[in-house]
Amino acid sequence: MSTNDRLIIFDTTLRDGEQSPGASMTKDEKLHIAKSLERMRVDVIEAGFPIASPGDFESVRAVAAAIKDSIVCGLARALDRDIDRAGEALKVANSSRIHTFIATSPIHMERKLRLQPDQVVEQAIAAVQRARNYTDNVEFSPEDAGRSEFEFLCRIIEKVIDAGATTINIPDTVGYNIPQQFGQLVGNLIENVPNADKAVFSVHCHNDLGLAVANSLAAVMQGARQVECTINGLGERAGNASLEEVVMTVRTRQDVFGCDTGLDTTQIVPASRLVSTVTGFPVQPNKAIVGANAFAHESGIHQDGVLKARETYEIMRAEDVGWTANRIVLGKHSGRNAFRTRLEELGVEFKSDEELNRTFSLFKDLADKKHEIFDEDLFALVAGDENRLDEKYKLVSLRVCSDSSKVPDADLVLSINGAEQQANAGGGGPVDAAFQAIEEIAHSGTKLQLYSVSSITSGTDAQGEVTVRLEKDGRIVNGHGADTDIVIASAKAYLNALNKMDQSMNRQHPQYSQV
Ligand code: KIV
Ligand code: ZN
Repeated sequence: MSTNDRLIIFDTTLRDGEQSPGASMTKDEKLHIAKSLERMRVDVIEAGFPIASPGDFESVRAVAAAIKDSIVCGLARALDRDIDRAGEALKVANSSRIHTFIATSPIHMERKLRLQPDQVVEQAIAAVQRARNYTDNVEFSPEDAGRSEFEFLCRIIEKVIDAGATTINIPDTVGYNIPQQFGQLVGNLIENVPNADKAVFSVHCHNDLGLAVANSLAAVMQGARQVECTINGLGERAGNASLEEVVMTVRTRQDVFGCDTGLDTTQIVPASRLVSTVTGFPVQPNKAIVGANAFAHESGIHQDGVLKARETYEIMRAEDVGWTANRIVLGKHSGRNAFRTRLEELGVEFKSDEELNRTFSLFKDLADKKHEIFDEDLFALVAGDENRLDEKYKLVSLRVCSDSSKVPDADLVLSINGAEQQANAGGGGPVDAAFQAIEEIAHSGTKLQLYSVSSITSGTDAQGEVTVRLEKDGRIVNGHGADTDIVIASAKAYLNALNKMDQSMNRQHPQYSQV
């Protein structure tokens, strides 16, 4: 494929995706997702914003060390300290990129940055030059380009390309643009910036009006050759352009786009499920490509057509995006080796024999309750076990009585920093009783914002996966729990959220903090 036929896929699930309220991820969760993106052959993985917190720095460094086949990217405001921190985190990468940005719209320059346009240009040039000391691969974004003045965009872009930027990313930061206008903006920039041929033009669209994918594709039609996107369209506010929709549109409509990605699309559904499990953001059934109904034909006429000739109603093959029937991967009699091998195939590596043994014993407990264990069950098991050793709150035991003629009540034993405490509480239902019992002990001061249950696989013995969203002083966390008993899964999810709230630090937000 020549450079012009090749569409670069830049995945920002671990950075912009993580900016969704409640979607913050641990280092190990980020590593699992990064591995799955590498398996999909994503070109660039934006692993995070290293200056945000020591935890973010460590996550970017861990991804940089683990990923060999994709470029690993770190975000930095156009500030020396941000760029140095990103350069440091990426030092161990096989191939790295620094992505630096500064806002260019009048409203952002005046109100947020309080800088004159000339100062913004100077700061952008200095940032790109500094980033080039760490890597030859430097991306520059004029933030809020979708509301910036065209002449100013041309000026700053020309200068940063001269300073060494190799990718110019045009963000529609607030999701304000519409496809024809945005496509034209990118086309006009490519045509009018004198040194445009020295850089790849990229787009980064938000979905506030539901147009992120359409805007991205309109720009591809006008010469953009990188799209920034996320799995399941995760991201700040209404999200970013969804990777699966962008990738499958250009693949399916080769006649229109004249370019393609290098992705292994059979990895799309597994990656979507992993991101959903890790973040607790369910995928709506009618979501394109990765929704449970995306390839299900309900109406009799459609089913008849598909059975006679698939192409009558299907424009893509389910197996090409990774929809294979749930494979039974392991069962009660599977040994430690088979267990470790399957998890390694899924990108989960054990750091010690002790960790392997602990997770294997959880697997054996699960296999006693559930005969067929699928990949999704394994992910839930590993996700649930993460950080178990240093958690403040641990569930020791829970007994809940649910009887149609009585008020449900829960007896709970909880370990807090290693010391066991007991509580009993009633509630409107068994889950409510379990949560009340936890709060009898924890007194967390949090507010429950969301409670949702879904089943990980099919069948009445499936594990229930519960997401609990808690809020305290404006901080939001999502906790997850999985178990064949949904009341236990709910208690695990609640405790997971409390642990995350406890661990969550004051992280800097790349766009809300002042330059
Ligand atoms: O939406 C945005 O403008 C961003 C930039 C940091 C590229 O996320
Ligand atoms: Zn963004």
